[in-house]
Amino acid sequence: MIKKKLIIANWKMNPRSSKEAEKLFSNTVKNVSNLKKTEVIICPPFVYLDKLKKISRKFSIGAQNIFWVEKGAYTGEISAEMLDSIGVKYVLLGHSERRALGENNSDINKKIKAALSAGIISIICIGEKERDENHEYFNIIKTQILECLNGISKNLISKIVIAYEPVWSISTTINRKDETPEDFFEMSIFIRKVLADKFGIKTEMPRIIYGGSVNEKNVSDFIKNKGVDGVLVGNASLYPEKFSEIIKICEALEK
Ligand code: PGA
Repeated sequence: MIKKKLIIANWKMNPRSSKEAEKLFSNTVKNVSNLKKTEVIICPPFVYLDKLKKISRKFSIGAQNIFWVEKGAYTGEISAEMLDSIGVKYVLLGHSERRALGENNSDINKKIKAALSAGIISIICIGEKERDENHEYFNIIKTQILECLNGISKNLISKIVIAYEPVWSISTTINRKDETPEDFFEMSIFIRKVLADKFGIKTEMPRIIYGGSVNEKNVSDFIKNKGVDGVLVGNASLYPEKFSEIIKICEALEK
């Protein structure tokens, strides 16, 4: 069985209206034929999930956050069970924009556990804010992984996707820089080693994907390496031509 590449769209707080969301989704679906080698997951704001899910089954749907309790007096929160009840199968957790609002590794850990019990796959975002010369960023990544996955059974970690998104490479970061496919590949090996040291080398591992200014020009370089399982796309996913081009490039790849 070929392992499908994951192409995840993080729409963030876009677009402005339900009508525009439908149009963006439909126009992207229209541009691509049936998918064989990739799985595309669109993560729109909560309020559009149910509607978009009904438009086409070509793409899966994911949320951008959850709360860790099933139900109760938590005004403004949405639980994993609620998302499961409308057929959502994925959730982005720990995005750097949420961490900037105060979310920490311990919160993310509770959210991953809640997603696992509802049968939802978490896409956990990790990534350093700066790349320092002393390579301290490797320790930051290691701590993020170990704290986010604390107490999670090794039988369940294949139900998790790890998205490495160095904050300095995200398209909206001021004075951003480009991550190189080579450095990401090195980081993916480091992440695998951290996981193997914690969970044992024989464990079925999470998939590892890259995010940070991915577009139709650089996507093939990021995913051509063995052990790289896909991409998380922000800005380019808001343009049907760009995002469908990214999908087509991934579909056309040999492996
Ligand atoms: P970007 O966003 O592709 O616009 O850099 C990625 C993300 O923040 O998830």
